[in-house]
Amino acid sequence: MNVRLRGQVRPYRTVGYDPRRNEVILIEQRLLPHEFRLVATRDYRETARAIRDMIVRGAPAIAATAAYGLAQGVRAFRGRGVDRLSAQVERVFGTIRDARPTAVDPLNAMVGVRQAMRAGGTVEEQQELAAAAARSFADTSVAQCEAIGRHGMPLIKEGARVLTHCNAGWLACVDVGTATAPLYAAQAAGRGFHVFCDETRPRCQGASLTAWELAQQGVSHQVIADNAAGHLMQRGEIDLVIVGSDRVLGRTGEIANKIGTYTKAVLAHRHRIPFYVAIPLSTIDWDLRSGFDIPIEERDEAEVLGAWGAPLAPKRRAGAAKPVGRGSCRAYVRVANPTSGARNPGFDVTPADLITGIITPAGIFRPRELWRKRGQLGGPAT
Ligand code: MRU
Repeated sequence: MNVRLRGQVRPYRTVGYDPRRNEVILIEQRLLPHEFRLVATRDYRETARAIRDMIVRGAPAIAATAAYGLAQGVRAFRGRGVDRLSAQVERVFGTIRDARPTAVDPLNAMVGVRQAMRAGGTVEEQQELAAAAARSFADTSVAQCEAIGRHGMPLIKEGARVLTHCNAGWLACVDVGTATAPLYAAQAAGRGFHVFCDETRPRCQGASLTAWELAQQGVSHQVIADNAAGHLMQRGEIDLVIVGSDRVLGRTGEIANKIGTYTKAVLAHRHRIPFYVAIPLSTIDWDLRSGFDIPIEERDEAEVLGAWGAPLAPKRRAGAAKPVGRGSCRAYVRVANPTSGARNPGFDVTPADLITGIITPAGIFRPRELWRKRGQLGGPAT
């Protein structure tokens, strides 16, 4: 998507790869919205760390990063013979897989890269195939987000007020976004609408990333406290909810997404507000049989006990934020009582009966239809 920086507009992807230097190129998302900076990871371990430490985040974005990271690890192999290379592949695969557990997309992406490599008879051929497969995963992911936009656009009626949670925008994908794709398509069609971005404590991806994205694209929006959604729904001020997901169970239609998504789905159900989940095909897990089997990431308690932000220079009003000093814009402040601890599950699971539809690149499906329609959705034969 286009980013306006110091008066210049340039298109960026969230994740890229420099084959000359064998580096994965990422937007340092922890600095947004206060500073836009690209970072390069020099080996697969750094790439895994970038996922774990959330330099890059969002299921499809960490999937592309994982795919490139695997290709990067393969490319760095200096030994002889495809057997030895395959031991390296397993090492890289495991390191990146373990960086974050809830999203299934990185796993699906790396399985695809690993499979594509196997067609090569030599180390060099396998290295080339891995890089090509990673690139193809990233390009396909963008095309799928565009298709989500086409299918989801009719849901955004003129004047619609849309709630979204966390960031399922282009920063969470390679480009375009999932939950935001129908919004951008509606905007391109000239439709007017308004987006409420849940702040999304504890890391505030809604307040920092979604709000920044929408501001960059000129979409009307406001940030709301997580606890405000019920009040707005009760007053008839929200017409539609669209969120992304880290794992959709193809067998049951349950979805895992950022903590607080379940609460919003319950509220939407209570108020008869349509609740949609937008996903590329890499987000579908065709194996697990219950949402209780989804590994839910437990993150550091510091995220709940405090918050990151940029100190404003004196006299600047909110909205005109300018970070103080280069490289020093991100500061942590303790909010909670100093002697208290915290529990910090990063995701929750929303049951199928609270979901109106799953917006996919192949169309919109009811959650419990996914298994029956798996032929159209890249699922297994049986
Ligand atoms: O912890 P995060 O920021 O990686 O969580 C991101 C989300 O929960 C997104 O909604 C999800 O990954 C879907 S992104 C299209």
